[in-house]
Amino acid sequence: MVKVILDMDPGVDDAIALILALNSPEIEILALSTVSGNVSAMMGAVNALKICNALGKGIRVIKGLSRKGYRRSRHAVEVHGRDGLGDAGIAEGVVRTGYRYRYRDPIREIASIITSYKSKEVTLLCTAPLTNIASLLEEYPDVKRHIDKVFIMGGAYNLGAAEGNVTRYAEFNFYTDARAADKVMGSDLSIVASGLELTSRRDCSIDHSMLERIKTIGSKPALLAARILSNPVARYSYFNIHDVFALASLLKPEMFAVRRARVRVESAGKMRGMCITEYRTDGNVSICYDVDAQKFIDFLLDGFLDE
Ligand code: BDR
Ligand code: CA
Repeated sequence: MVKVILDMDPGVDDAIALILALNSPEIEILALSTVSGNVSAMMGAVNALKICNALGKGIRVIKGLSRKGYRRSRHAVEVHGRDGLGDAGIAEGVVRTGYRYRYRDPIREIASIITSYKSKEVTLLCTAPLTNIASLLEEYPDVKRHIDKVFIMGGAYNLGAAEGNVTRYAEFNFYTDARAADKVMGSDLSIVASGLELTSRRDCSIDHSMLERIKTIGSKPALLAARILSNPVARYSYFNIHDVFALASLLKPEMFAVRRARVRVESAGKMRGMCITEYRTDGNVSICYDVDAQKFIDFLLDGFLDE
């Protein structure tokens, strides 16, 4: 089993990735940290617990860093709903009661989990602005030794083919904390990145008929995912599940075509959040640039089957 720390901002697509991760026998979730992005770090923690509760699973949730003066962007409210989970009315339930997710120093908490494992034993799966991870690397550089790989949904690597989803140049996660994105991408960690041009593929998105297929599976994870996706799909007619690509690249790397690169991220100005990508075989970042769409859909549907 891969030992994974999830770093998320749930968020509809984060929620789908979380449901699949909780339902995967190949993954042991060591903890889930949240960060402000699609929703506040606090709302993200509550949302993560709602999902765990609905599936009867208990994992350690850590409310991570909130940026000062954080305000949800219009983009995030429109896409993910007022509650961040597609306004599906998922109940808070019982897991939240007495469950500790507020830590005085969440980054220290994450560091202590990681360093309690052996060298290269821990994998990070990051589907949100990289604020927590950049702080982790800055404050606890020792953690690097324990991290095998970092799977990231973020960035856009081929802007000729796809424009950013916040500005023309930038993808949401990298734009939201561009300095953190630069710190993480520019580290020497081994990173697998799924960028916007891949995750926005229409043939891997959820439309009405795909939503029906998910409902038909009838398992608890499938029905929960369908509930969360229902309003966004009704609103946009199809919905991109960006964050699921990061999970898929961890669990099914053979589905993806990758190219190695070094990546830095513009941290300010008009181009904030834009990736500066230098393709080279000794790069620390493997950029997933193509996927077998049929296999991706199979991965998704199989992932909802009862364990
Ligand atoms: C990313 O931004 C968020 O809206 C999604 O959850 C995803 O992580 C896509 O740009
Ligand atoms: Ca996300």
